[in-house]
Formats: sequence, structure tokens, C-alpha cells
Amino acid sequence: MTTFLYGYVSELTMSDVYSPPDRVVVESHCKGMDEYKKMYDESIKQPHKFWGNIAEQFFWKTPVPDDLSEFMKYNFNVSESPIKIEWMCGAQTNICYNALDRNVEAGLGDKIAFYWVGNDPADKGQITYRELLAEVCKFSNVLVNLGVKKGDRVAIYMPMVTELVVAMLACARIGAVHSIVFGGYSADSLATRILDAGARVLVTADGVYRGTKLIKLLQIATAAMEKAAEQGQEVSHHICVSHLPRLVNPGTEEAMQEHTASIESGWKTGRDNWWHELMRDALPDHTPEWVDSEDPLFMLYTSGSTGKPKGVLHSTAGYMLYTATTFKHSFDHQPETDVYWCTADIGWITGHSYVTYGPLLNSATSVLFEGTPFYPDHRRCWEIISEYKVSKFYTAPTAIRSLMKFGSDQTKPYDLSSLKVLGTVGEPINPEAWQWYHSVVGQGQCSITDTYWQTETGGHIITPLPGATHTKPGSACFPFFGVVPEILDEEGKVIEGEGEGYIVFKQPWPGMMRTVYGDHERFEKTYFSKFPGYYMSGDGAKRDKDGYIWITGRIDDMLNCSGHLMSTAQIESVLVEHSLVAEAAVVPIPHLIKGEALYCFVTMIDGEVYTKEIRDQLKTMIREKIAPFATPDYIQEAPGLPKTRSGKIMRRVLKKIANDETDLGDISTMADSTVVEVLFSKRQEMLDSK
Ligand code: WTA
Repeated sequence: MTTFLYGYVSELTMSDVYSPPDRVVVESHCKGMDEYKKMYDESIKQPHKFWGNIAEQFFWKTPVPDDLSEFMKYNFNVSESPIKIEWMCGAQTNICYNALDRNVEAGLGDKIAFYWVGNDPADKGQITYRELLAEVCKFSNVLVNLGVKKGDRVAIYMPMVTELVVAMLACARIGAVHSIVFGGYSADSLATRILDAGARVLVTADGVYRGTKLIKLLQIATAAMEKAAEQGQEVSHHICVSHLPRLVNPGTEEAMQEHTASIESGWKTGRDNWWHELMRDALPDHTPEWVDSEDPLFMLYTSGSTGKPKGVLHSTAGYMLYTATTFKHSFDHQPETDVYWCTADIGWITGHSYVTYGPLLNSATSVLFEGTPFYPDHRRCWEIISEYKVSKFYTAPTAIRSLMKFGSDQTKPYDLSSLKVLGTVGEPINPEAWQWYHSVVGQGQCSITDTYWQTETGGHIITPLPGATHTKPGSACFPFFGVVPEILDEEGKVIEGEGEGYIVFKQPWPGMMRTVYGDHERFEKTYFSKFPGYYMSGDGAKRDKDGYIWITGRIDDMLNCSGHLMSTAQIESVLVEHSLVAEAAVVPIPHLIKGEALYCFVTMIDGEVYTKEIRDQLKTMIREKIAPFATPDYIQEAPGLPKTRSGKIMRRVLKKIANDETDLGDISTMADSTVVEVLFSKRQEMLDSK
């Protein structure tokens, strides 16, 4: 049973609510709230019928079970541990076959799968479904020849090039588990992930330009392989795409010579291989490995509140149905006419589900973009949209806010009339950015879909549907099919109607994670222990009087910087690695563009003085040990931290100090309240010296 209310739009003031534009409604897969409600009810009451019908569009080597008890099995109650989520067990399929072979066999071989758009506007390419399949088959054979078997983990550290899609689909084809690490992570972060996954094979590229900056991926990967080996995880085969030489502007001759020299010095014969050399000798045919519905498809690391990243594990068939269905409905995909573009990097879940799997399973034509929205300048997105006639565009609130700075005239010279649906993801979108997206980018003619979801959820879980939902700027609106949200108070009591609390989910949808790789206990503890019987996302939400859901942000020790989720503990553990730092605490502060920025408090060891040099060293450590995107905006000295009598750091108080809010609320549990004043004055000192 559902507890949420549907929106009664007539009761609302029209200025709060945006109706779906007719041009979207006419072609929509779900044309109104009544239809949504009907489909939603079926998805909850008869999941086997709802998802079973969808499953019929895909190929199964062994068919899906048709009675409910076999179709969906789960336990969300920790007291009856283990937590278990299984969909369509016993059925056999292959997601790569469904994404490629099935489309080619349906006569879509010549359809463009991806327009590749390079960082430099001069670099472009395209690949059809047939060509993509051929590459994937060859790379599957490369992996098999290197001894990769079903269930083996393959680490991938690559830029946004078509080979990245090929590598992940080849893993899926042979039943290996891909573990993609975002190409902006440092060698340490990559090494930790290689180690945790026990990956013996790594796929990389030599380098990539982000704007004008050359990221030396191979150099970073080589350092990571050394670090992983020191800790006992030897990468036995490394396959590297030679990307830079094929660019129109690979860099100055000097830079390229230096680059070649660095490759030669780190190259290990036997371990290191060039992609093109292995592909040259690979056979073109490959029969997919038929895997069970619940066989793992991939793992993807996300921040954990202990500081150690968690390998979120997704399985095959449920993820396939869920990404395919969310893609179709949240963007109202029209296979005949759409050109779709998601700006996310494949290294994040958004790229997994909505650059690779969701679009290909729907035989979509997409743009695969290597660059950034700001190179050569802020007009890049508008140029690409008008050149490729993009109809569905999916990006992050942080990008929208950064672009807003350049004014509302920036889109005028471009023909953006092809756009129909504009999606956002990654963090709550502020109504101002939403409205700008709607009126300036969408010219008032598009539906906005603010899609709420997580690495863990596999696909959208709360989202408007472009042809059905009357949207409110800043609200993710209503649950997707199969999703049953509740809002709970601190005691775990269900809040009916209007209210605010923890957003939790009562039953599984097909695409949700199955476990934390190698640590099922952590999975249970993180997501199921606080509120037995529910999956807890870690986000807060409120429900308004019309039943709309508004995600209010994290309520655990996480922060969301430009859509990158980080745990405060992860940053703190790097800060205290500095030999002169005794203790550290990190809190988020609001940031106009990034959403949230990092504000760090560090306590020096006795007798040591905090200096600008130390501050710079700390910043460098974070860049090197985690990633440049984790670099703090502020690091202030804290001679003492506010703590409870039991010694727990009171982050709530630190957040107020960081934000210069003097009303600290109840601080009666604080062991020594004199630290507060010192912290305020140190804050001022830091700002004065900036
Ligand atoms: C936040 C990204 C509000 C949220 C797909 C979530 C959002 C975390 C939204 C997951 C949204 C994502 N509105 N908040 N539309 N989308 N979030 O795992 O805090 O990188 O828990 O997955 O981002 O981030 P992750």
C-alpha cells in the first residue's frame, strides 16, 4: 500500500506548478497522472505482472518466473538477517546481448549508438550499434584470452571515450564484474579500489584533456598499480588505450615527448599492453556468457561514513529492467527521433545507468562527451545541443548554477528548439536554478525532470514523468514505478501527509543494490539497521500538502560537493595523516555553485603552530590521496573542538561556526564551551589572512 498522496494540482497556485508542455504530452509514454497512478499501482501490487511485461521485450536464455513468490524475494528486516533482495532468480540473460545484439538483430545495426564529442571541438566521431557490437566482441575475446573469467573483477580507469563503453560491455558479455573508477581520482584512491575489488586486470588510457589541462591517466594508473602491488594485489594485465596521439591537437611537441618518455619509463612488458595491439589480433565473434539474473554485473564505489569507500554491488536482470524502464519513462525516450545527451562521466553511477545501459537497452542515439561545459567556453553545451539536435538533456544542478553566471542571453544565438526534456541529478536543485533551466535553456517549452536517486538505487527512484507530472521547482515529485517511499521521524514512526524526516523505502525495486562487495554486514548496518524493515537512503525529505516529495539533502555525515558525495570521515582521516595534525573535523558549508563546500577544522599536536604552509600541505594531501574535487575551501585552526562529555565531536556546532551563526542551539551537553569563542575568533583570523 502506498502512503503518499497524489498532487491535486487544482488546489495549487499556478505559479508554483508547471504543467507538462503539450508537445511533450502528445508523444509521451505516460500521458497524465491517472495513467501514472494506474501503472504505479500495478507495479506495487503486481510487480511480477508489471516487470514481467517489460521483461518480454528482452531476450532471456531461460525465461523469467511468472509467479510473484519466485519473481521477487526479499527480506528488509535485520532481525531476520540476512537482508536479501532477489529478482527473477533462475532466469538467464546477458545485458550486453540485450543492449547490442538484440538491437542489431532488430534491424538497428546502422543506427548511431553514440556521437563522440571530444574535449577539443575539432575531435568528433560516431559509432553505430553494429560497430559497437563488433568492438565489444573483440574486446570480450581479448579479456578471455588474458584469462578473465565469469565473476572476476576488472578495474577500469578511463576518460569518456567509446572504448570505455566497449570495456564495460565486454565485461558484462563475459560475466566479469566491472569496477569503474572515475578518471579524476588519485593514484591512492585507484589503488584502494583495485585492492578492495581484488582486480587483476586494469583498463586505462594514456591521458585526456579536461579543458586545457592534460590528465596523465597512465602515469596515475602506473603509480596505483605499484601501490596496490605493495599491498599484495598485483595487477597482472593492464590494457591501455592510446588516446592522445589520435587527437587533432594532442599537445605541443615537447609535452608529447615528455609524455612518451614517461610511458616508456613506467612500461612493464608482460603486464602493460596497448589496446589497439590486442584488438588487432582478436577474433570478431563472441558468444555471450548466459548469466543468472542475480549474478553480479558491476561494482561501483561510493563514500561510506566510516571513511572507507563501499563497493556497491549491482546484479544483472533487475538492473537491466530498471535502467531500461527509468530511462524510457523519466526522459520519455522516443527511439525514432530522440538524440539524448547526459553530461555525467561514466565513472559515476549516472554514467553507468544513463550513458551506457539505459540508453543502449532502449536503442537510443546519444552524445558521449569527453569535455567540460566550460571549454573552450561556457557556450559549449548550447553548441553541442544545436549541432546534434539534442532532444533530451541530462545534467547536474552545479553545472546549471555555474552556467547561470553567464547570463540569460548566452543561449540566444543557438537553436535549442530540439530540446523537450531537461533532467537534473546529483543534489537538490534550488528553485532559482530550476527556473533558469526551464525558461532560458528550455525556453519554457520543456519538461524538467529532477531525478532523485543514488549509486545504491541503480536508477531513478523519485522523479517526475515528463508527460504526466505537474512539477514544482525543487521537488523530485513522486516515486517511480515499483518504489514505495515513506518518511519517518527520528523514532521510526511513519509520518503521514505533510511532514519532514528520513526518506526510506519499504520494498525493493528491481535495480537496487544487492550488497556491499565483500562486506554484507556493512550493507545491513548502513542501510537497514536504523529503521528495521526499511532501506534508508541517508537523505532527508519533506512531503508537502499536495503529496510532492522534496529531498532536503543528507542527514548523515556526508557532504555533497558539486554532486560528488563524500564522507566527512574520509576527509578527516587524510587530514590527521599529517604528522603535525592531532585531530580534524570536517563540515559542509553552502556554496553558490558547488552546492556544498568543505570546511575543515584542524587541531595541531601540542606545541605546533598552524601555518599557511601546513594549510597548503593539507590541501595537497587531499588532492593526492582522494581527488582534486575534494579540495577544501577552508581549513581553519581549532585549538580545541566542541565535544560532548563522552567525547563525540559536535559537528552540529561546528557547522554553525563555519557558517558564522552565533545561535548554537542547545549546547548543554558540551564538555567545554569555551572552545566555541576561540573557534569564532580563529575563523575570523583565517578569513582576514585569505
Ligand atoms: C543526492 C547520484 C536531491 C542525494 C545519482 C543522494 C539528490 C546522493 C538528487 C547520491 C536529487 C542525487 N535531489 N538530492 N535529484 N540526486 N541526490 O550516489 O543526497 O553519487 O543520496 O548518486 O546525491 O549520490 P550518488
